[in-house]
Amino acid sequence: MNANTFIRQFHRWVSAAFVVIVLITWVTLAKKGPIWVSYTPLFPLALLAISGIYMFFRPYFGKSRAPRRAAAELKA
Ligand code: HEM
Repeated sequence: MNANTFIRQFHRWVSAAFVVIVLITWVTLAKKGPIWVSYTPLFPLALLAISGIYMFFRPYFGKSRAPRRAAAELKA
């Protein structure tokens, strides 16, 4: 699995976990649970933001390197 595929699958699975965490947070806060629970989605959201921004810019910074890497792989 290359780095791109890994990042995409990481984003996909963290997004699923994020939704579950948000739902748990809603229920906990509705039951008047501790207020710090409201911060728990921020950690997976930060991971999603980092991996998402990476995926967004990937096509642009990939352009300059992709042909060289493809050529190197052909030689090997
Ligand atoms: C926080 C900032 C986020 C950024 C910057 C971001 C950005 C991106 C980008 C650029 C893609 C790739 C789109 C493409 O195919 O070109 C993507 C895919 C995706 N994003 Fe996000 N995203 C963010 C948050 C989220 C959240 C909160 C969720 C859902 C809870 C989510 C779920 C997904 C899913 C399911 C995909 C498709 C992944 C796949 O290929 O299987 N993302 N996102």
